[in-house]
Amino acid sequence: MRLTAPSPPAALPTYKDKPYFAGPGTIAEHVRRRRRRKQAVSLGLLALFGVAVWWLWFGGKADRIISRGKGMRMRGNDLLKLMQGFEKEEAKTGQAVDWAERRERVKDAFRISWDGYEKYAWGYDEYYPIAKSGRNMVEGGMGWIIVDALDTLMIMNLTSRVQQARNWIHSSLRYDQDHPVNTFETTIRMLGGLLSAHYLSTTYPDLAPIADDDEGSPGEDLYIEKATDLADRLLGAFESSSGVPYASLNLNKSIGILSHVDNGASSTAEAGTLQLEFKYLAKLTGEANYWEKVEKVIQVIEGNGREDGLVPIYIYADTGQFMGENIRLGSRGDSYYEYLIKQYLQTSDEEPIYLEMWQEALSGIRKHLVTYTKEASLTIVGERPHGLQRSLSPKMDHLVCFLPGTIALGATGGLPLAQARKLPGWGRKQEADMLLAKELMKTCWATYLATATGLAPEITSF
Ligand SMILES: *[C@@H]1O[C@H](CO)[C@@H](O)[C@H](O)[C@H]1NC(C)=O
Ligand SMILES: *[C@@H]1O[C@H](CO)[C@@H](O)[C@H](O)[C@H]1NC(C)=O
Repeated sequence: MRLTAPSPPAALPTYKDKPYFAGPGTIAEHVRRRRRRKQAVSLGLLALFGVAVWWLWFGGKADRIISRGKGMRMRGNDLLKLMQGFEKEEAKTGQAVDWAERRERVKDAFRISWDGYEKYAWGYDEYYPIAKSGRNMVEGGMGWIIVDALDTLMIMNLTSRVQQARNWIHSSLRYDQDHPVNTFETTIRMLGGLLSAHYLSTTYPDLAPIADDDEGSPGEDLYIEKATDLADRLLGAFESSSGVPYASLNLNKSIGILSHVDNGASSTAEAGTLQLEFKYLAKLTGEANYWEKVEKVIQVIEGNGREDGLVPIYIYADTGQFMGENIRLGSRGDSYYEYLIKQYLQTSDEEPIYLEMWQEALSGIRKHLVTYTKEASLTIVGERPHGLQRSLSPKMDHLVCFLPGTIALGATGGLPLAQARKLPGWGRKQEADMLLAKELMKTCWATYLATATGLAPEITSF
């Protein structure tokens, strides 16, 4: 299957004509003010950086043991041998990878899973492939699997399955459940799923073509209608005194609910991973309100003024203040950073503030979190559980493996590397970013290599 795109980079799923432009008093101005304040104290901070860098160099050298699960360990030397063995093997076979064949196998795996779900658990939120049964997470179900997988069904051009999913969304999906659901998960999987379906079905009408989607047909706007119904309910989660959303909400009442754990704080990644969806819906509907609610969240986060663009992983919805000092790119931190660069790309480079925030964060990551293992020479992203001035923990969540792709996206803007290299702005910085991305990807690969199952551990301590 080939997707022919018009002319890059306009072909990216981005838009230029924003429904709402950030005016004075909004985030851009706010950040400028903060930057001026920051410059005034930068000399003092310079000394602190010196200490931090010194510590990173002399005190932060990573351990030589990679451990996984409870008590499972592998020496760095052994891991190195494994990696080298694998690379040698690959060089020996010397054959070019048959991507078409691999793609078919991925599609086969998807079809097997999907058809099992359809047969034994259709419409349920959870599927138990061994017990061959399904279960809902809230009464009536949310269609988690169907809506979340819809874009994959479309990209794989599985037309009859898309038709069936669409029928279910039309006749069975409802969002008036009187139960708490997670604000972030509901946004990225449900709202994101519906918006992706709208985007793909209108931009690539030859993919999984179904008549209901066609312009002028009675069901044409199904995905947008469902998305708008859901988004209007989700807006209740943003009704906190700071504008930072509550971790959960009741969709029927559209009322936010404090997290039952973590001292009631929301997670920073969750609060910072709603923007693409709501902004795209603002664009589609012309409703600036969706835009303003999510942009406000970034303004509050940025207003807390953290060092080098790195933020603690918890934030209170009522005060907008961070809770604690724990800084990491793994759980509860990860996609805040991802959405910075993606927000920049989403509005076709028209909001340089997000590029600046992303680049500041990436420099912060290099300065405070990147370190190297001794024996296997792997580049890792560690954690600062007690803030940037305290020790670096050589722990890396599997979730951090989003980072190499995001760094590459930031460097290339989504273009193939060969094409991106020809752009006027391409230079040493972009090459250095691509190198870091490759090194981190290699580390992620190594964590898969290190287990008997070939599945990476959720958390690795180096
Ligand atoms: C997708 O499948 C349909 C048949 O269901 C076919 O007509 C169409 O060309 C395919 N699209 C692509 C992009 O391969
Ligand atoms: C949602 O709330 C309305 C009243 O506002 C109620 O009539 C309805 O039964 C509720 N839906 C569910 C699924 O509880």
